[in-house]
Amino acid sequence: MSTTPSDPHRPVAHLRPPRNWINDPNGLVFHDGHYHVCYQYNPYGATHANLHWGHFRSPDLLTWEPLPIALSPTPGGVDADGCFSGNAVSDGDRIVAFYSAHREDRSFQHQPVTCAVSRDGGRTFSPRGELLIPELPEGCTMYRDPYVWQDGDGWCMLIGAALADGRGAALLYDSPDLETWTYRGPFDAREKECVGGTDLHTGQGWECPQYLPAASGRGALIFSAWNEDDTPRCVAALIGEERGDAFEAGPPVLVDHGPDCYAPALLRAPDGRWLLWGWSWEARDEAWAVAAGSAGVLTLPREISLEDDGSLRQQPAAELLTLRGAHTVHATGEVRGPQPVELGTVGRAFDLTARLEPTANAGLRLLTTPDGAEHLDIRLDPHAGELVVDREHASLDTRTHGGIYRMPCPGGRPVDLRVVVDHSIAEIFLTSTGQALTLRFYPTADGPWRLQARSAPGAPLRYAVDSWELLPLVIKEPSVRIEEPEE
Ligand code: FRU
Repeated sequence: MSTTPSDPHRPVAHLRPPRNWINDPNGLVFHDGHYHVCYQYNPYGATHANLHWGHFRSPDLLTWEPLPIALSPTPGGVDADGCFSGNAVSDGDRIVAFYSAHREDRSFQHQPVTCAVSRDGGRTFSPRGELLIPELPEGCTMYRDPYVWQDGDGWCMLIGAALADGRGAALLYDSPDLETWTYRGPFDAREKECVGGTDLHTGQGWECPQYLPAASGRGALIFSAWNEDDTPRCVAALIGEERGDAFEAGPPVLVDHGPDCYAPALLRAPDGRWLLWGWSWEARDEAWAVAAGSAGVLTLPREISLEDDGSLRQQPAAELLTLRGAHTVHATGEVRGPQPVELGTVGRAFDLTARLEPTANAGLRLLTTPDGAEHLDIRLDPHAGELVVDREHASLDTRTHGGIYRMPCPGGRPVDLRVVVDHSIAEIFLTSTGQALTLRFYPTADGPWRLQARSAPGAPLRYAVDSWELLPLVIKEPSVRIEEPEE
């Protein structure tokens, strides 16, 4: 964790190591008074290679302590070419981490499960050295990403898979003791299906399945839709009921409506809340990320719940209110177009709440260059019943992705929004529905940035907007010496 290269797009209130590549959150577990967050990590560079598990822990989601790398590939071992994704459980004294063992001499889509145990609060892990589940069920063309949870006196495990008959699947195993695992069959498996009325689909295979159990056998199965080709990936959830070893669920819904959230993972907090972190990849080109020395960031921890009406709701973890610093914008009023109303200035990291009452297409604009040529728009379209986020002009640098993204937003009533912006990531929460939309964007100017309320002529927008400076997470000095591995 030596020198931090200076990258003006590096988020400060989102978790990531000082440099290098990260992807999926892994091994999320509360153990011995701490939230443990591991993540796919390449200690040698800012590209997806040499995957280890980097590791942080925190007592409160605000102050984080880097711990030594939890899992490293063992030369010549079952995971010689990478410790891919998985989760962890605490059984009192131990943290047991389950993960996908990658070897290049196996089929590239076949990462069988192994595990590692820590008896010192996550400072060191002893890898099992052998596979825990050596055989994969017949007919799997992709197989990885264990997710283990406690079920009564025993344990269950889901594994992400693609089946030869074209279905994506989450395969169910169970165990009395975390040691001996019995295959029970697909928990759910589906042919490609459209997700939540969008043009995204459930994919050819399911990565990183997660299970959020709720009352009376109900639950949400969350997975990341994987395709061998470049079809856009998404995160979907199936809401249903456990029936014996299978899950009976309705149609898939989107877990995040933005383009830049993938492979989210769950953690059960000691107070019973379910927390979810996702991987927000870069939306700038790879050469730029490599030159900047870092790629990928974890989303904010979000509270996620399965409601009685079968909807999944998300909001930033309550603890993050503590990261609110100076109150920088407080604006209420009405804009009638065509002239926008200036609401005030914000820094590169802020937490904003807005109540908007549009009569037609209207919303907020974040102007990131003084002339406003570079801007991110958050608009409401009450007639279409949508919230629209437009990043077509969000960076003057052409090495970035544009696009317009939508999430359902019922019209006819005031809309409450929470928008957390941190340098190059925006997480937008629709408070009324609990839906989320995550995207990356790369403003070229330092700021201060400006906020405007905008509406079409003759179609007034009433607004009440507040924003606070978003303070950085506190990253503590490690209490254990951390050696960066030598390549
Ligand atoms: C999801 C994923 C997982 C895999 C890991 C490898 O982003 O592809 O399926 O275990 O990343 O880094």
